[in-house]
Amino acid sequence: MDLFTGSTELMAVKKRFSRPPMATNPKGRKWRRSFQPRSNGTNRCEAPLLTVHKTFNDLLDIMASKLNIRKETAADIEAISAVTAAAFKDHPISKQTEPFIIRALRAAGALTLSLVAEIDGRVVGHVAFSPVTISDGTGAWYGLGPVSVLQDLQKQGIGKALINEGLSRLKTMGAQGCALIGDPDYYRRFGFRNYPEMVYEGIPQKFFQALPFIDEVPQGIVGFHDGFQATS
Ligand SMILES: CC(C)(COP(=O)(O)OP(=O)(O)OC[C@H]1O[C@@H](n2cnc3c(N)ncnc32)[C@H](O)[C@@H]1OP(=O)(O)O)[C@@H](O)C(=O)NCCC(=O)NCCS
Repeated sequence: MDLFTGSTELMAVKKRFSRPPMATNPKGRKWRRSFQPRSNGTNRCEAPLLTVHKTFNDLLDIMASKLNIRKETAADIEAISAVTAAAFKDHPISKQTEPFIIRALRAAGALTLSLVAEIDGRVVGHVAFSPVTISDGTGAWYGLGPVSVLQDLQKQGIGKALINEGLSRLKTMGAQGCALIGDPDYYRRFGFRNYPEMVYEGIPQKFFQALPFIDEVPQGIVGFHDGFQATS
């Protein structure tokens, strides 16, 4: 199911994102490639870049104003599974078990925080947080993930909005920190980094990322909830 069918603004945003590369005309102004001069010297169109950008930014503003991050409700459960499955469909190191993980966490009462991103009432992204254990006995740490945004709407700030809202709510709940397994290049923008004193066994350490909310950093082996083993 295409969750976006019917949203003209979003379709327009998608169209803008797939615009062709820019070219520069002899006066230094930029044309979209489809607006370049013909070889006979006549121009098809001289739309200045300013016009294109103004429309593009307007569309992004429209989308941002419609983006709503909120807690999941029972009515979101199927949509969350669908969004998660779609986002991880082509992921190179996913076993496509992420929807099962979310269901297992929920069934075990371990879905501490489950936030959806919705636009025009449609769920387009999701993030889950669940408790982690640390062998030194430190409590109130949570794991981030899975996090998903529908592929057509990625790189537009939805993942960032979900994660920032989740981290903010965790802090309000009195959490002491958050940990995850993921790409350091993406998560460092939220302040996550590898702490050698926090160990997650079985993966290269650089992929284990933590974000303490207080000065004290735990020292020990970290474990995620058993729900992460779910395969069906
Ligand atoms: C990861 C994900 C949730 C990010 O959501 P998003 O809405 O695309 O993210 P944002 O728009 O907030 O941020 C996009 C930025 O992050 C970068 N980015 C996205 N995924 C990245 C990754 N895996 N590694 C490094 N950078 C990444 C983009 O290049 C972009 O950079 P820019 O702002 O410099 O252009 C989304 O890409 C997704 O659902 N991916 C598939 C599932 C997945 O990989 N989940 C995370 C598993 S660890």
